[in-house]
Formats: sequence, C-alpha cells, structure tokens
Amino acid sequence: MDRSKMHEDKHLTGSLVFAVFTAVLGSFQYGYGIGVINAPQQVIEAHYYHVLGIPQPEARTNITEGEEDNESSAVTLYWSLSVSIFSLGGMVSSFFVGWIAERLGRIKGMMVVNSLSIISALLMGLAKFGASHALVIAGRLILGFYCGLSSGLVPMYVGEISPTALRGALGTLHQLAIVIGILISQIIGLSFLLGSEQFWPLLLALSGVPAILQIILLFFCPESPRYLYINLGQEDKARKSLRRLRGEFDPSKDIAEMKKEREEAASEKKVSILQLLKSISYRQPLVIALVLHISQQFSGINAIFYYSTNIFKKAGVGQPVYATIGVGVVNTVFTVISVFLVEKAGRRFLFLIGLAGMCVCTIIMTIGLELLSKYTWMSYLSMVAIFLFVTFFEIGPGPIPWFIVAELFGQGPRPAAMAVAGCCNWTCNFIIGMCFQYIAKLCGSYVFLIFAVLLLGFTLFTYFKVPETKGKSFEQISAEFRRRRQSPRTLKTATEMEYLGSSTDA
Ligand code: GLC
Repeated sequence: MDRSKMHEDKHLTGSLVFAVFTAVLGSFQYGYGIGVINAPQQVIEAHYYHVLGIPQPEARTNITEGEEDNESSAVTLYWSLSVSIFSLGGMVSSFFVGWIAERLGRIKGMMVVNSLSIISALLMGLAKFGASHALVIAGRLILGFYCGLSSGLVPMYVGEISPTALRGALGTLHQLAIVIGILISQIIGLSFLLGSEQFWPLLLALSGVPAILQIILLFFCPESPRYLYINLGQEDKARKSLRRLRGEFDPSKDIAEMKKEREEAASEKKVSILQLLKSISYRQPLVIALVLHISQQFSGINAIFYYSTNIFKKAGVGQPVYATIGVGVVNTVFTVISVFLVEKAGRRFLFLIGLAGMCVCTIIMTIGLELLSKYTWMSYLSMVAIFLFVTFFEIGPGPIPWFIVAELFGQGPRPAAMAVAGCCNWTCNFIIGMCFQYIAKLCGSYVFLIFAVLLLGFTLFTYFKVPETKGKSFEQISAEFRRRRQSPRTLKTATEMEYLGSSTDA
C-alpha cells in the first residue's frame, strides 16, 4: 500500500477519538454491570433477609432445620436471579440490535437505548424504599436489556467510523471500556467504599451516570457515514461526516468504496435475521462469527469473573477479594496491550495464541488445584495460571469477537449478523453463569479440563477456518468470502485466503 495513504489512514482526529470515547461509554456500563454484583453480595443478601422478614440464618435458634433451609433458599434464589437475570436480559434484547440500528441509525439508537439504563439505575437506586429484591431483580433485567443492545450498537458504530488501518485498534476499545468498567466496579464495591450496608443501592445505581453523559455527548457525534450513504443514500451528509471524522482529506476513495459496496449489496439491502440464517452466501462468515463468540464465552472466562473469589479461596489464597481485583488489573493492562498489537500481529494470530495459551493454563490450573492438598505451594501455581489465563484471553479472544463480526459482513447483513452473534454470546454467557457452579460441584478440580478440551477445539477451528481481516476494506473481505464460496476447493485454509487477500491489495 502507498505510504502516504497508509499514513492518512492511520490519522486519529480529535472528533474520531471523541466519537469512539462517547460510544464506548456504553461498553463501560456493560463491564460495570458484570462486575458490580460480586463484592456486595453479603450486604445485599442481608438486606433481602430484612425486607422479607426472615431472620438471618445465624440469628435463628428455635427454627427447625427444614424451615430454615426453605427460607434461606428463597433468599439464595432471589440472589441468583439478581445476578443472572442480567444476561437473560442481554440475550433477549441483543436480538433487536439490527432492528434499532436500521430504524433509528447508530447515533439515535445508542441515545434511545440509554433510557433503559437510566430506568434500571432508578429502580436499583431506590431499592431500599420498597421490596428491594424485586426492585434489584427488575433493575438488573432492564440493565441487561440495555447492555444487550449497546454491546451490538457500539462495535457496529465504531467499526463503521474507523479508518481501515485502525479498525482493530479502535474496535478493541470496546473491550477495554468493558474491562475498565469491571475493574472500577470491583474497586468501588469494596466494603469500606460503596459496597456497604448503607451505600449499596448507590453502587448499583451509578451505572446511570455514564448513560446520562453518553446521551449528552452523542449530540456532538457524527452519524456513521456508511449508514448515511449505503442505507439512506445521503451522499452529501456522508461526505460531511467523513470529513468531520478524518479531518481535511479527500473522501472520494471512501465514497467510491461504499458505492461499490452499495451496488453489490443492492439486492440484499436490509437483510433480515431469517434471510441471514437461510442464505448460503452468508454461511461461512456466520459460522466463523458464531464460533468466535462461542469460544469467547466457552473459554471459561466468566467462570473466573463470576466466581474468582471462590476459586481463589479454594486455591488457598489468603485475601481472595484482592486477588480478584488483581485479576481485574491484569485484565485491563493486557487489553491495553492488545489495542497496540492488533493492527500489527493481526486478529487471527492473536486469537490463536490467546486460545492456545488459555488451553495450557486450564491444564495447569487443574494440576494446581488437584495437588493442593499434597503441596501447599501449588496455590501459587494455580494463581499464576489464573492470571495468565486472563492475560491470554485479553490478548485475543476477549476483544476480537466483538469487532470482527462488523468486519466479516457488509453493510446489508451487518446489523442482522451483529444481532445473531450478540445473542449467541449472551446465551453462552448465561449458560456458564447458571451451570458452572453445578458442574464444578460434580467434577471438582477437573472442571477446567472441560474448558481445556473446548479450547483445543476452538484453536483448531481458528487455525483452519478464520481468515485475517487486518488492513482489508469491508468490500475486500466480502470479496474473499465470495471467492472462497465459488472456488471448487472450498476447504482452502485460512492461510491460503490470507494470501488471496494480500494479492488483491497489491
Ligand atoms: C468479554 C466478554 C465478557 C467478559 C469480559 C471479561 O467482554 O464478552 O463476557 O466478562 O470479556 O473481560
């Protein structure tokens, strides 16, 4: 590629940075929603006992064992629902991402869905004034609705406004904002900060603050030029938006590329979810998108995020809460590193290294947990393995699935594809949240071996099937899939596809 073009393509303008920052405030809320519920578990449960008029288990003396179990298990059920209904909400709402993105556009879409986040913050913030268990559960469900929508709208907008050479790096900022959200919620959720008996409703309600900020800032962000041109046919507005995002430059090349995409996609404009699932032309990118999302969740990452304190306790760590925060820090640091690596090393390589590294870590974790009773130093081995597991996750499997779906599909099928992939991600997330503890009880320390086997499978799939999308325009990526479909040797390896891709660049 011409050097001056490359430079122009990597140019970060103030308004591009501003637009991406504003968009990922939505991702921040998602991370906050994941992390916030861990630390204050005990104080919130204690409050549930109080509003339900059930004495806390330790305060009961003259109650028979059966009764005590029933009453405690009601609180346990309300608590489990408070945690997991969030991903149920995301599962349902992510299905509507495409519909909202098409009808309202990316900017208005992100603005409007914030109302869900604000409603949820009000419900949880006022939880102490009513039936707190019901208010928290309703609030978490609505927050899940919000996060399901924003986890599709944000990567879609960021992918569409980014110059090709920065699409991966800027796309990774979605994940970076998620992990910062997780980390901040873990820290302010400590009992001497907001995770206290007095302040927990405020802790839960704080996710409404970035929602309000995002609504205000979105007024100053340009709409996606691709949406304006390809979906609405407004060339002038698209040019204006491109100039705002890229500074003073000649947008003709981008417009020409969009024009080509528009012409080629003319017959398949606004692809519905059903059409996407049925059409043979989208089969390959769809399978790749889904497997990448499934591998992100079935890598077992949220088993660590939801239950790390417990896992650390089992591994013999003295201060498990601080080890959990340590995981959050490592998580954030390596996502930052990935922002810089992804445009150099490429998506495919980082995804492969990440999955393979995680696979090795799960085996080490199993050995560590299994031999802990014999050798106490095994607790250090397990802890190091957990930290490395998170490191490998953030290098590739964490950020890449979120933005690669926008890359694998053209403008027509993109919203439907983001909806299906997002829904798949949330469903797998829900399954892990619900089942991990039961499977862990059943399998003991061997539970991580299940993830090891899955990770091995995902690594092989990535090696054989996932193409490199780094540095390619949306049009080039679609062209590669077309060529792959038409070729009699459809089982070409991804490496061969990469070669084909680079030959079109030349
Ligand atoms: C990804 C996953 C999310 C997970 C997070 C951890 O964003 O989608 O489920 O909790 O990474 O960093």
